[in-house]
Formats: sequence, structure tokens, C-alpha cells
Amino acid sequence: MKKVTEQAIAFAPATIGNVGVGFDVLGLAVDSIGDQVTVKKTETGDIRIKKITGIDNLPLDPLKNTATVGLIQLCKDLNLPFGFEVEIKKGIPLGSGMGGSASSAVAAIVAANSLLSKSLTKSDMMKYALMGEAIATGSIHGDNVAPCLFGGLTLVQSLDPLHVISIPIPKDLFFVLVHPGFRLDTKAAREILKPHIDLKDYVKQTANLAGFIAGCFIKDFEVLKNSLSDILIEPQRAHLIEGFQKIKGSALDNGALGCSISGAGPTVFAVTKGKSTANKVKNAMVVAFKNAKAPKITSWITQSSSKGAHII
Ligand code: HSE
Repeated sequence: MKKVTEQAIAFAPATIGNVGVGFDVLGLAVDSIGDQVTVKKTETGDIRIKKITGIDNLPLDPLKNTATVGLIQLCKDLNLPFGFEVEIKKGIPLGSGMGGSASSAVAAIVAANSLLSKSLTKSDMMKYALMGEAIATGSIHGDNVAPCLFGGLTLVQSLDPLHVISIPIPKDLFFVLVHPGFRLDTKAAREILKPHIDLKDYVKQTANLAGFIAGCFIKDFEVLKNSLSDILIEPQRAHLIEGFQKIKGSALDNGALGCSISGAGPTVFAVTKGKSTANKVKNAMVVAFKNAKAPKITSWITQSSSKGAHII
């Protein structure tokens, strides 16, 4: 039996869903950006949200908030004699494509888990966090929750049964994220996608996904560069981001190995070898976003966070 405490705070990282080539299956946790959730045991047995800071207009109703939906099910499944009071500190902009809903859901489960007398498995934690993610995005996909929980770059090979594979990342790989300051609704960005794809596109995208993963294993930046191209989803969503082709062009012209939409957008990410190239790419992308009249640009240079969500 582990020592039981009354309150825990967890940090969960932001994520780049899809990483361009792996729609709904590939995701990467980034360092330094993320959500923080405090979970306190309550004697009353209910689940309630005390406060949300960092973002306005998020639902305080526990049945509607991504952080609490999984906790409600957890309490039911384990027949817990106590409930949880939750405080959410959002560090990830809402509707940004940086995995904010997954991050809050994962942080809440990780914090709650540390208050249980018997720890949950990662697989159980993923199941409860996915319930929260589903409320926010309208579908169950693990490309944000998995890297958020496990850290690093992950491939969700199967959701049921859960098979998550961690993929090594070359240490010189940097990720530039530029958020234009407007929101895109993931549900809406999924609804515009065609339900069927051409066989030749399937072949090309499979080759790109396999090439990207192989490039990570063999640490070959040329292979990464040749593979980092999303020919399926990006062309269908690009019009949602004003000036996308020019923004992507500015990243590639300045040495990025690849550039695409983070998750469902509107954040755009670029991958570079080395930090100085990341700086050049970031500056160029910011100028391109300004030219496209983005309302409020925020940019980051990050590396992959090898640590997933954790207690702080
Ligand atoms: N894989 C998801 C998508 C990520 O692209 O719709 C957003 O949650």
C-alpha cells in the first residue's frame, strides 16, 4: 500500500498531435508548455471544479469539462468513498491545436491517481483521460493523450487493447510552434475531412509515416526531411489558417525539415535540426503570420519532453 495524501498537483505537457504524417496516431510532447491541475480529496464524494485560471469561458460543470469527466468515471468504477475538488491552471491556449483538452484531462488523472491507495496502470489512466478528450473533441483519438501521459514521441498502434510505442527522437531535433491567436474548434476541423482517401494517397502517406519513424530510429535528418509531408489532412485544413502556404514556405525556405499543422490547428509547427535554425524559422514564420494578419501571435522553440505528465 502506498502512502495516501490529500492533495496533489500535476503538470501535463502540450502536444503536437499528428506530427503531420500520423493523423490520430502519432504525437509529440513538448517541453515547458502545459496545463497544471490540483486535485484535492473531498469527503462529500462529489466531483467539483473550484477554479479555472489562465483561460476564460471554460465550463465549470464537471460533466462538461475535459479534466473532470474521467474523474467521475474513475470514482464510479473504483467505488471510492471520497470525491475530488479540482483546480485548473491553463497554460495551453484554448482551441490552439496544442492538445489543451488532453493535457487537462491527463493532469487531472495523474494528480488523482497519486491520491489513491492503489495506483492505476498507465493504460487505465489513458482510458480515463481519453474520456475527457472525447468530450472536447467529439471523438476518441490518442495522439495527444498518449504523448502527454508517456512523454516523448508516441505512436498509438491500437487504442483497444492499448498499444503505445515510444519512438526515440534525435537530440538535435527542435520544434517551433507558432500560434496565431484565434481558436479552431477540433470537432469542426474534423467534420470537414473527407471520409475516404485515394489508394495512391494512402500509399504515399504510409511511406511518409514509416519514413519519419525510421528517420527517428536511424537519426537521419535527410530521411526526416523527405518524409515530413502530410498529403492527406493538411491540404483539407490549410484554408482554415489564413496564409498557411506562405507560412509553411517561410519555414522551409529558412531550413526547416518540415512544417505542418499542429493537431487540428491553428498552431503551425516546424521541425528543425539545431536551435539556431529553429530561431531563424520561428522569426520567418512570425513575419509570415503577421503578413497574414494573425490577431495575436505567440511562438515557442521547444524540444520534446521526455517526461510525460508528472506530479510537481
Ligand atoms: N488528431 C486530431 C486531429 C488532433 O487532427 O483532429 C486534434 O485533437
